[in-house]
Amino acid sequence: MKAILVGLGSAGFSWYKRLKERGLLAAVVEVDPAMKIKMGDDPFPFYTSLEEALETTQADFLVNVTSPMMHTKVNAAAFDRGLAVLCEKPISFDYQESKEIVARAARERLPFMIAENYRRMPYIRKAKQLIDAGAIGAISSLDIQFYRYHHVQRRYTVHILDDIGVHHFDLLRYFTGKEGTAIQAKLFNPVNGWQEEGAVLSAYAFIELEGGITAAYQATIASKGTETPWSGNWRIEGTEGAIEVRDKEIYLIRDHMAVKVEDLSGIDETDTLTEFLASLQEHRESETSGQDYLKTQALVHYAHVASATGQMQAILVPQMKENGEMTA
Ligand SMILES: NC(=O)c1ccc[n+]([C@@H]2O[C@H](COP(=O)([O-])OP(=O)(O)OC[C@H]3O[C@@H](n4cnc5c(N)ncnc54)[C@H](O)[C@@H]3O)[C@@H](O)[C@H]2O)c1
Repeated sequence: MKAILVGLGSAGFSWYKRLKERGLLAAVVEVDPAMKIKMGDDPFPFYTSLEEALETTQADFLVNVTSPMMHTKVNAAAFDRGLAVLCEKPISFDYQESKEIVARAARERLPFMIAENYRRMPYIRKAKQLIDAGAIGAISSLDIQFYRYHHVQRRYTVHILDDIGVHHFDLLRYFTGKEGTAIQAKLFNPVNGWQEEGAVLSAYAFIELEGGITAAYQATIASKGTETPWSGNWRIEGTEGAIEVRDKEIYLIRDHMAVKVEDLSGIDETDTLTEFLASLQEHRESETSGQDYLKTQALVHYAHVASATGQMQAILVPQMKENGEMTA
């Protein structure tokens, strides 16, 4: 198996090292030639033109680590050549575009996975395993807190939900195994935030999920206080107990007694690349496939609508129609 890596920015360079280590790298595409210096003396072909790379390189799949507004263009070019794609989150900043590219991959039976890595953190996997084993009974409500100060140079305008909250919304679906039904949200720039045109640094959201589950979400990347991990801190209330995932540690609370869960054994610790390769070999849909991840993107989309209208919004979960298009 060989891959074309597209995008050699900060996340792209991590992918570069990962693909190189596993002997999977065929070529690199990056529009900014200055980025080539990151490759040192490595012999891999480097292109500034995606078309030229696709024309001249034998590859089985493409890894898309470009800026989010470029994702669809790159994914579509790969699909034109019948290549499978492993793409960084989000599918696209544009929800309609996300639906169209997911529908295309499904229609043409092209493997398309979003590299959602937060689900694969060991303490997240363990918490999910405990929930599934009934450690807290049925989930009733979730409380998610995400606080960081993250003011960095990037080539696109930062948006707390599209850029980072999408991970948390995906975890919400992962932990509960349920889809969102309604959402209320306020997306805004806090008083202590910095000035950046179009940037949205903070979010509050209240989400209802199937089965009467509720979630309260608060997030900011302009926090001056103690930071949470990137995955946030989670309080998951159940009918028989609660789980708290705090600073990457898990606490199981039953009868008001908290026990720290130290043993993380027995979980699937594979990363997104391993999952993608396994799905190709086994001819099955991957975890966080485009079709699945679109339901996470739906939560982000309806949060935007709710914030813009100031109204609670019903969430229409996207599904493939018989004519090969997406609903909602
Ligand atoms: N999963 C995670 O935890 C995580 C963390 C950081 C970033 N990301 C994601 O990774 C992606 C890249 O983020 P980043 O922080 O590396 O951004 P970045 O701006 O540092 O890098 C993006 C790179 O893509 C290049 N590029 C843009 N259009 C291109 C094209 N058509 N062909 C080739 N190269 C092109 C740019 O020149 C740039 O070097 C984003 O989708 C982001 O959301 C994911």
